[in-house]
This record gives sequence, structure tokens and C-alpha cells, in this order.
Amino acid sequence: MKRTLLRGGTLVTAERSFPADLLIEGETIKDIGSGLLDADAEVIDASGKLLLPGGVDPHTHFDLEMFATVSSDDHYTGHKAAAFGGTTTVIDFVPQMDGSLADSIAAWHAKADPKAAVDWGFHMNITRLDEDVLAEIPSLPDLGITTLKTFMAYNGRLRLNDGEIFQVMQVAKANGMLTMLHAENGDVIDILTAAALAAGHTAPIWHARTRPAWGGMEAVLRGAALAAQADAPLYVVHMNSAGEADQLAYAREHGAPVMGETCPQYLLFNEEHLQQEDGAKWVCSPPMRTAADNAALWQAVSDDVFQTIGTDHCAFFYEGATPIDYEGQSVAIPGKELGADDFSKIPNGLPMVGDRLPVLWTFGVGQGRLTPEQFVAYTSTNPARIFGLYPRKGALQPGSDADIVIWDSDKEVTYGREHSQQRTDYNLFEGWQLKGFPEKVFLRGRVLVDREEWLGAAGQGRFLERGPGEVL
Ligand code: URP
Ligand code: ZN
Ligand code: ZN
Repeated sequence: MKRTLLRGGTLVTAERSFPADLLIEGETIKDIGSGLLDADAEVIDASGKLLLPGGVDPHTHFDLEMFATVSSDDHYTGHKAAAFGGTTTVIDFVPQMDGSLADSIAAWHAKADPKAAVDWGFHMNITRLDEDVLAEIPSLPDLGITTLKTFMAYNGRLRLNDGEIFQVMQVAKANGMLTMLHAENGDVIDILTAAALAAGHTAPIWHARTRPAWGGMEAVLRGAALAAQADAPLYVVHMNSAGEADQLAYAREHGAPVMGETCPQYLLFNEEHLQQEDGAKWVCSPPMRTAADNAALWQAVSDDVFQTIGTDHCAFFYEGATPIDYEGQSVAIPGKELGADDFSKIPNGLPMVGDRLPVLWTFGVGQGRLTPEQFVAYTSTNPARIFGLYPRKGALQPGSDADIVIWDSDKEVTYGREHSQQRTDYNLFEGWQLKGFPEKVFLRGRVLVDREEWLGAAGQGRFLERGPGEVL
């Protein structure tokens, strides 16, 4: 079996940082220690560099049909972008289609399996609940799926009512599964959206104005209260405001088994970006809030109020009629322009899967808001633990998959679309100075990314059958 010795680096885990050599054998980590010797191993000099466990992004949407188009990164292009950014595991959401849950999962495997370039898992969306669905949920762990996403918004499409979400929590708990929640108030959103459009408001900023922060805050607390009453764990996705962080802290302080995810976009952007001429680039749900929310969310991240930082990556083109070059092919996919005359038709979502680690390192670790250990906890170890992947993923330990990032914390880049590799025509960090990038990225012992070079391939990613996770 091939052996690779990463010599002289500093290992960073969620608990501590320490200098050590790391020996990879085949697909896993064989040994960690100082002065490791192995005459047959290929030696890579990691001195002056950090060794991080590969990033685990718990929240992506690849090849997702919505808003009269499809998200522009598929399970190859999105995985490749993830790898360039140091992420080697992603968890994607399976939409509930007509028929059984197993049918929907099979359809998503048909899309993902031939294209996957990093390791991946699936969450199952539960957007229609009836006796058949309730009866089928307990069989999902046999398919490697232990997490169910529910929605309090998108009335008439994705939303379940509170009683239904409570039932999902109960059945999830009974089967060692975790319920996830999109926390917004769908009723209020629909009323405000209709009123705004009737008044002739069409600009992107109205996306935020019709989804007020109070609605998300109330929905987070409602979800936490449902979880407490069901005595079932809950994971609230894409939390975006100071008030939501407060509700999460309140719920946890009062013993509710609730965990929370925020995303880089909510830390770094706000309604001012939605008011720009190209504001559609920032339209996602839930929306950006205020500069005060950015500051409060950073504080909450520093204080470990949240458990993970995911991306909710759901990329669209800004001008989908104009092709870009992707791996030598001309690609154009309808995108944000679909909502040029109506903010409610702008595809919801933005590119982030490849940006997450460099951006969080630059503005988190680089600005003293996160320790390197917190960075690893938020972006790799905690998602692996919560989503039933630890210690196979998210860990630098003998026996763990050799998903390793050689991280150059001194590397500075003027960042943008070219660098990020995401298959869309824009990047939210265009022209920003970022410091801290992957130098080499290993997936199960194989080099996927070597500086600017892509060594990965479609189909080499592995589907991760996940077990029960931990409640952190
Ligand atoms: O705008 C977003 N977030 N699109 C993806 C769907 C979701 O609710 O996460
Ligand atoms: Zn959502
Ligand atoms: Zn999402």
C-alpha cells in the first residue's frame, strides 16, 4: 500500500495544535508522532505549514432545480470547487419528489454517483408528510441517511405545519435521527411579498424586507420549543441574525437539545449589498441582515454559540445568458436575471462552498475572532460529529480517513471567480485580499489539489453511509 509521510508540519485539531509528522497508508492515517521514519514512504515537507482535517461542509445544494432553473454547480463542479477550498466532504439535500423517499434518494444518487469528486452524504428533505412518509422514515438509516430537513417557509411547496414538524421530530428521535430546520415565517413572508409586488417594489432589497428578522427569530424559538417538547435534537440551518443567535443561546441555556449553523455570508454581508445595482448576487434565503447583525454573529461565533459554519452553497449565474468557459466548454445556465423585474423570481442562493475556509481563516483566525482550533471545530470536526461521520471524517487520528489539508497560513491572494473554481459567472469576494489557503488537499490519501493543479476526477468521491450523530 502506498505510504506518504507529511513531515514537519503543525497539526491543528479541534482541541489543540502541536508539531508532528503524519504518516498516511493507503486511504487512512497510519501514525502521528515526532521523528517518524519510513524508508518506503514518499516524503512531503510540511514545515512551516499547518495540517488540518479536510473541511466538512454540512450544507450544499448541487444540481437543484428551483426558480425555473437549476443551481449551476453540479456534483462534479461543486465538489471540485469544494476541494480547491480545502473541503473534502459535503452533505447535499435530497428534495422529496413524488413517490417514495427511496425513489427520491435513488434519483439523487443517479445524479451524484457518477460525478462525485469528494466524499459526500445526503440529508433528506421532508416537505410532504403523510402516513406513508412517516412509515418510511425509519428505513432511511439503512440507506445511510440519518438527517431530515424541514421547512417553516415556502408555503404550498416545501413547508410543513408545526404539528407535522413535531411529528418528524418524534419519528426522527425514535430512530436515532436528527431533524434540521429552515426557520422563517412562511405566512408573513407570503403576505409581505404580495403587498410589496402590488406596490411596485421589484428590487432585490425587497427580498430582505419581505422576510423580516423577527420572523426568523420567532421561528428559531418555535423550532426550539417544538424540539424541547418532543425531547428530540434539532439543528437549525443558515442562522443569519443577532436575534436568532440569542434564541439559540436561550434554548441551549434552558436545556433544549438545539444546535445551530451559521454561514460566511451572514458574517460578512448585509442589506447594503442587496441594495447595490448587482444586489441579486446576494439574494438567498434567509437574507442578509444588518452590519450590527454581522458584528453580533461574529461575537456569537467567537463565543461558541453556534456549532457549525456551513455554506448553504446554491450557486446561480448572475447573467445566465452569457456563457463562461468551464474546463474548455462553454456553459450558460439561466440565473439571477430571471428576477430582473421581480425580486421574488430571483433564484435564491449563492456560491460559497470553495470560499468558506479561506474567507473564515482570513476574517476569523486572521482577525483574532477564532482560534485555529475553533476554525477546525466549526468547519470540520463538529459537522463530522453532529452528522455521524466522526472520527472517520473531521479528525487527525490513526484510523481516520486521510482527508488532510496542508494549509499555508501565509499565502495571500487577491481572490475572485477564477481562483474559487465555482461554476458561475461571479464571486462575492471578487478582488478581496484573502490570507490562508490550501497548498495540497488529500482525499483518502490521494492528492486532489496541488496548489493550482486539479488532480481529482468525477466518480472518485465515495457516498458516506452515516450513522447516528452526536448532540453537541
Ligand atoms: O437561498 C437558499 N438558501 N437556497 C437554498 C435553499 C435553502 O433553503 O437552503
Ligand atoms: Zn433552508
Ligand atoms: Zn440550504
